[in-house]
Amino acid sequence: MKKIRPRTPRFPFDSKIPKYWFNDNPLASHMVNSLNLLFPDGEKMFIRAVRAFEDQLADPGLKERVKGFIAQETQHGREHERYFDVLRAHGFELEGFLKFQNVLAYGVIERLTSKSMSLAWTAALEHYTAVFAQWTLGRATLRERSNPVMADFLRWHSAEEIEHKSVAFDVLAAVAPGYARRVTGLLLASVSLTAFWAAGTVYLFQQDPEAHVKWEDFKRLYTEFLAHGTMGGAFFAYLKPGFHPSQIKNEQLAAEALSELETTPAFRPGCSRSESSPLLDFRQRRISSTSEYVV
Ligand SMILES: [Fe+2]
Ligand SMILES: [Fe+2]
Repeated sequence: MKKIRPRTPRFPFDSKIPKYWFNDNPLASHMVNSLNLLFPDGEKMFIRAVRAFEDQLADPGLKERVKGFIAQETQHGREHERYFDVLRAHGFELEGFLKFQNVLAYGVIERLTSKSMSLAWTAALEHYTAVFAQWTLGRATLRERSNPVMADFLRWHSAEEIEHKSVAFDVLAAVAPGYARRVTGLLLASVSLTAFWAAGTVYLFQQDPEAHVKWEDFKRLYTEFLAHGTMGGAFFAYLKPGFHPSQIKNEQLAAEALSELETTPAFRPGCSRSESSPLLDFRQRRISSTSEYVV
């Protein structure tokens, strides 16, 4: 199986990134912004869930992939936290939502679930992120009609999500197998993802009275995201008893995106940093939760 290696791009986030950076569309922009708010703390939970079983893994290949998974998720969270400053520069207050999410998802739900259920929750969320990643990489709208920094940022995260899409699933299968647990993890993932994603979107819209959402936007959301089976299709695919993430063939899409992205300035050390705006750089970096990354 292909080695999972972390990359450490530094995207030139600055105040030139418009508020409605996704195709000049408030609904699409704030829906993806809401996912951005979920990522850093969510990815810390993924790392905790997998790391809890690292010592029980007998397969050295899987142990190596776990290391790559942890390194990639750590880097994703860091870049998403850097992007928070773009939202703050546009006047959004984020701390209330981040605290709410952290307390409810990780202070209550994660604490009430067993370690093996947290792993099943993580494996299902990783399946959703890989399916969303495939959708993201296939969107011409993102590449052609959206802010290029944001497009590259999301394409990088998406491609790496596809690279490590099987890791949490394989750890679950190795240390805590069982269909009932896997499906319970899927139900927990489906409800929590939908609820927190919707809550984050509402939180951003409440602070943005000038955002105008047309009925057409909802229709496009349905036809481009839901009707093509992205979220529902991911749910039903995962329900199949013999399912494995590798059955969804999207590795080539990820490899093509990464080979293109790795030639861009964000992936060259020292290049993108100097392009950052002082508007964002002077802001004190805030950590969205009390727990730090573990690597
Ligand atoms: Fe990630
Ligand atoms: Fe991931």
